[in-house]
Amino acid sequence: MLFQYFILFCFCSTFAVEQILASSACESIHFVSRKEWGALPSNLTEMKLPVHHVFIHHTAEEECFNMSDCKRLVKEMQVFHNVTRHFGDIGYNFIIGGDGNVYVGRGWDKNGRHTSGMNERSVAFSLMGNFMKHLPGEKMLNATKNLIACAFEKKIVADDFQVHGHRDQVCTDCPGDLFYNLIRKWDRYVAGPLPTYTCPYP
Ligand SMILES: *[C@@H]1O[C@H](CO)[C@@H](O)[C@H](O)[C@H]1NC(C)=O
Ligand SMILES: *[C@@H]1O[C@H](CO)[C@@H](O)[C@H](O)[C@H]1NC(C)=O
Ligand SMILES: *[C@@H]1O[C@H](CO)[C@@H](O)[C@H](O)[C@H]1NC(C)=O
Ligand SMILES: *[C@@H]1O[C@H](CO)[C@@H](O)[C@H](O)[C@H]1NC(C)=O
Repeated sequence: MLFQYFILFCFCSTFAVEQILASSACESIHFVSRKEWGALPSNLTEMKLPVHHVFIHHTAEEECFNMSDCKRLVKEMQVFHNVTRHFGDIGYNFIIGGDGNVYVGRGWDKNGRHTSGMNERSVAFSLMGNFMKHLPGEKMLNATKNLIACAFEKKIVADDFQVHGHRDQVCTDCPGDLFYNLIRKWDRYVAGPLPTYTCPYP
C-alpha cells in the first residue's frame, strides 16, 4: 500500500513523498519545541546514528497535567541540569508530560547526559513525575510508545534496537518501581543488568 502510493506520488512533488513517508507514530505526537518551552540555547555534540538502545526514565520530580505547568517544569529542569549538575543542557533527549505532550530536550541527534556509560549510544525519554508507587497516566504512556515507534520510523534507532529502564544500566530507582514493572512487558524490552552496567555512577 505504502509502496503503491510512493510510486504514484513520487514524481509529482517531494512534498507528497515526505508526507507519505512520514508515517503515523511521529505524526500522532504533539512535540513542544525548545523555542515553545523557552529553552536556553546550548552547544551539544552530534550523536552517531542509529543507536541501539532506548532508555526510559522518570524525572523523580513534580508531575504536570497542562502545558503551562509542564513548560515551567521543563525550564526549571534545564536550569537544574545545567547549573547544578553541569550537564550543559537538560540531560534527556525528550521529556514527556502528564499532558501527553512531548517536550524536546536535546532532540534526536545529540549526545545526552542521562544514562551513565550509554550517553553516546542511546536516546532517553523521561516521563515527568515519580513512578515508584503509581503509574504514569495513559496519555503519557501512549506518547511514550509513539515516541519509541517514531524513533524507529525515523531510523534514529537500528532495526535491532532494545528498550530498557534506566536501572537496567545503573544502580538507581529510576524509572520507579511500578513503572519499571510495566516497561518490562513492553515490546523490545531487554532486562538488565546490561553488559555495560555501572555502579556507583557519576
Ligand atoms: C561548540 O562546541 C564546539 C566543540 O566543543 C566548539 O568548537 C565550538 O566553538 C562551540 N561553539 C559555540 C558557539 O560555542
Ligand atoms: C494547570 O494545572 C495547575 C495545577 O494542576 C493549575 O493550578 C493551573 O491553573 C492549570 N493551568 C491551566 C492554564 O490550565
Ligand atoms: C547554562 O548556564 C550558563 C551560566 O549560567 C548560562 O550562561 C547558559 O546559557 C546556560 N545554558 C543552558 C543550555 O542552560
Ligand atoms: C491510548 O492508546 C490506546 C490504544 O491506541 C487508545 O485506545 C486510548 O484511547 C489512548 N488513550 C489516550 C488517553 O489517549
